[in-house]
Amino acid sequence: MCGITAFRGPAAAGHARTALERLEYRGYDSAGIAARRPDGTALHARTLAGVAALATALDEGATDATTAAIGHTRWATHGDVSERNAHPLEDCGGRLFVVHNGIIENADVLRARLIAAGHRMATDVDTEVIVHLLEEEAAHGRGLGDALADATAQLEGSWAIVALDTRTGDLAGTAHASPLVLAEAADGVYFASDVGAVAPFVGTFRVLEDDDIVEIGDEGTRWHRPGGSCRPRGLWPVPETALLASVGRHHDHMGNEIDEQPAVAQRVLDILSPGIDGGTLWRGLGLPPLDRIDRIAVLGCGTSLHAGRAVAGVFERLGHMPTRAVTASEAAHEVWEPRTLVVALSQSGETADVLRALDTVPADRGTVLALTNNPSSSLARRAHAVIDCLAGPEIGVAATKTFVAQIVTGACVALSGLAVSARRDVAAFDADLLALGAIPETLSAALDAWHNRAKRLAADLATASGFLFLGRGSGLVYAAEGALKLKELSYRWAEHQPAGELKHGPLALVDAGTPVFVVDDGDPRLDVDIAEVRARGGRVLRIGERTLRVGGMPLHLPRRGPSWGPLETVVPLQMFARELALRLHRDVDKPRNLAKSVTVS
Ligand code: G6P
Repeated sequence: MCGITAFRGPAAAGHARTALERLEYRGYDSAGIAARRPDGTALHARTLAGVAALATALDEGATDATTAAIGHTRWATHGDVSERNAHPLEDCGGRLFVVHNGIIENADVLRARLIAAGHRMATDVDTEVIVHLLEEEAAHGRGLGDALADATAQLEGSWAIVALDTRTGDLAGTAHASPLVLAEAADGVYFASDVGAVAPFVGTFRVLEDDDIVEIGDEGTRWHRPGGSCRPRGLWPVPETALLASVGRHHDHMGNEIDEQPAVAQRVLDILSPGIDGGTLWRGLGLPPLDRIDRIAVLGCGTSLHAGRAVAGVFERLGHMPTRAVTASEAAHEVWEPRTLVVALSQSGETADVLRALDTVPADRGTVLALTNNPSSSLARRAHAVIDCLAGPEIGVAATKTFVAQIVTGACVALSGLAVSARRDVAAFDADLLALGAIPETLSAALDAWHNRAKRLAADLATASGFLFLGRGSGLVYAAEGALKLKELSYRWAEHQPAGELKHGPLALVDAGTPVFVVDDGDPRLDVDIAEVRARGGRVLRIGERTLRVGGMPLHLPRRGPSWGPLETVVPLQMFARELALRLHRDVDKPRNLAKSVTVS
């Protein structure tokens, strides 16, 4: 784990490093580069100080002369975070180098055998066995691609691997349950674990299928597979949105990504909402009519699962359909009934837990709709239908704009399915159509209202050691997302609960001054929940309430919110989490211990 780049062509190390900078958010425990000098020796640099520090570690003049290079940013799974364990890893002779994403499950057995055969291991990393297996194969005179095929035949687990032979300058890449793409630029050829790494430098790319081997040498690019050759895989265009990084007034990506949310929602609506009427969006995706679907299951992890719960609300509240949310990492024993629509949400489309969960869905039981920010991802390629949530690159590890984009996209798709379904609750449907169009405006209003307030509140609550987030009904998922953002960014304890459950236990946590965020979806019962907190001295922060002043007295307005819930309430919760984290001197774009895309299960 977690980001791979490679380049064969002039000034290779520089190209690999520039592409690596675009992937740093994918894993940032350490970074490294290995490259071939013209004399066939290796240039090798690793650092714990981030990709930028590699530029200093590598002498510019020396990198200009390199002809092939591989790079990596790591999110540690096996072995501590240290320069020694950083990729690329090398063989005993300092000739072969390897970068790897994934996990080698039989690494211990292979390690023992290799050590017995005389290999010296220098790290604690599972990846190291790969480079020694390659060394064995190369010693038998195998070319790099064939050596990689033979080495990977001995592996169990998941991998995207790129190997470099510094003697010949050849590169070879392969993938197995972990993504790897190949892309040709004007001056050379790239490998990358994510097309975002090379998006500005290429127009198209190819995605390796499991066990494809691609070798790049003096004779050009050769594709093969165990047992024979294969044709190069199809070309994908680099999506326009891959180049739309958020820019703005903040130093951190997350701040800009939060600010961009109204524009992202507007983009989704401009493209998708015309397809709601008459159900053309739904039909265009090739989905069966909703009347032939009995139930909806949303599937995902982290923030994407929260977005899925909000989308499920549309099917449930407007279509009265049974829905359930499946935590992807817990799907192993899930019972899948026939005629289920599985909406699999993943901004990256590469989360291993989601891909493994799909393995549990029998082919005759469910139609899988992928809702992702990466339409060429493994998830997208496995699903029956794919919808791009059009958020553009999200660099901050804590998801923000992809959350909003997934909900708006999912709502458009669900409304389109319901538009031509007998299940539809007509009055509620029409009200939701209006609410959908107003989303960009309500998000903007929330941003404006909380601009200074979030900062002030963070100053006020900087010493609080724990936070509660409450909600009811469609508001609960936003309470959950608020708590998740706070944990991810500030490293403070935060718990979310259905407000009605408070009295059954969590109320014991409330003490004088305990901050309790209440996401208001208009349910009048929240007043009672709030009174219970206040009676114990808790500090209530009510988000999203609608009040009217009558004779100077606040009157809370009961309201029926849209079926996806009070989406705009996530904005202050994101802003508060970010402001608190900044105040506590956390890196808001790169929270400790986390990675943007977790490609191991
Ligand atoms: C990681 C990230 C989370 C994200 C989750 C799901 O754990 O740190 O922020 O929500 O993966 O990612 P996905 O790409 O599937 O949406």
